[in-house]
Amino acid sequence: MKVNLKKILAEAKRRIKLPLSIFKTNLIVLKSKLIRNTEHKSSYENGEYPELALKAALNPAIFSVFRRHHMYTPILEHVSRNQGEEYLKIIRDKYKLKDDEIFQLLKPLMKLGSPKLLRIKGLSNKISTTGLRYLKIGLDIREFSGNNIGNVVEIGCGYGGQAIILDKLLEIESYTFYDLWQVNFLIRRFIDNSNFSTKYTISTINEDSFNIRNSWDFCISNYAFSEFPKSLQEIYIDRILKKTPKGFMLMNSGVNGEFGNIRNHNQKELLDKLANSNIKNEVPLTYKNNYLLTWGMEN
Ligand SMILES: C[S@@+](CC[C@H](N)C(=O)[O-])C[C@H]1O[C@@H](n2cnc3c(N)ncnc32)[C@H](O)[C@@H]1O
Repeated sequence: MKVNLKKILAEAKRRIKLPLSIFKTNLIVLKSKLIRNTEHKSSYENGEYPELALKAALNPAIFSVFRRHHMYTPILEHVSRNQGEEYLKIIRDKYKLKDDEIFQLLKPLMKLGSPKLLRIKGLSNKISTTGLRYLKIGLDIREFSGNNIGNVVEIGCGYGGQAIILDKLLEIESYTFYDLWQVNFLIRRFIDNSNFSTKYTISTINEDSFNIRNSWDFCISNYAFSEFPKSLQEIYIDRILKKTPKGFMLMNSGVNGEFGNIRNHNQKELLDKLANSNIKNEVPLTYKNNYLLTWGMEN
């Protein structure tokens, strides 16, 4: 039998090299998990949440339950029963909405993604408490902006729940969503399945979306801009906030500009940067030192 020495040597080399190569690959993966580039990035970008959002966007089974998924609810969909009751009280007492109107407005947020529906004192049926938050905030925004809000830009949009409620409450010219690229797929899927009637664009801050629109009438960023590091906030301030005459942002970075161990703009710096800006209370207060930052509005 003729032995091909060359072939045997090549196979032996491959067998010795393969485990080494696998080991090296695993080391590189481990290193990339330990050392993350955090410059201009939010804390979300290094976690598992963006990938879950992407999976939910691409996989019908995950999409059908993402709003109660244990990796998603720490970020969104965590409005408690008590908070839900407080939102409901304001919706009824201040904004005078009847229960059937409330259920009608919340309809697009009651099923898609299987949110947890909670029983709330005095309401005939279970309801999405996160939906109640979006409705209360939507009514606040309508009070500030009037019925015709023009071109809206939202920074850090979750799955688009706030936009869906605003689309039902207001006349909107156009809606621009800015979020992470993975999350943008989820927003697209959710919005596309929700009879959203406003024309919209979905983008990341790094994409060249500014050729479509580079100024807006109204900016919204609830529990989102306030969670970004200062350098990323600066990018959003220059490219969006300063180009938008009116804004409404619920902030969870306190007076000093801190979200967890992220340092960002404090209240004074934001008031200095944004013309005609004001600090108001978050009502109801959902976390100590939260506040509402508005600009360009009289009241
Ligand atoms: C706590 S959630 C708030 C979502 C929504 N505003 C709400 O009120 O339900 C924060 C949002 O910021 C988004 N986000 C994180 N990093 C971002 C970035 N670099 N640019 C834009 N959005 C980002 C997250 O994907 C998420 O949608």
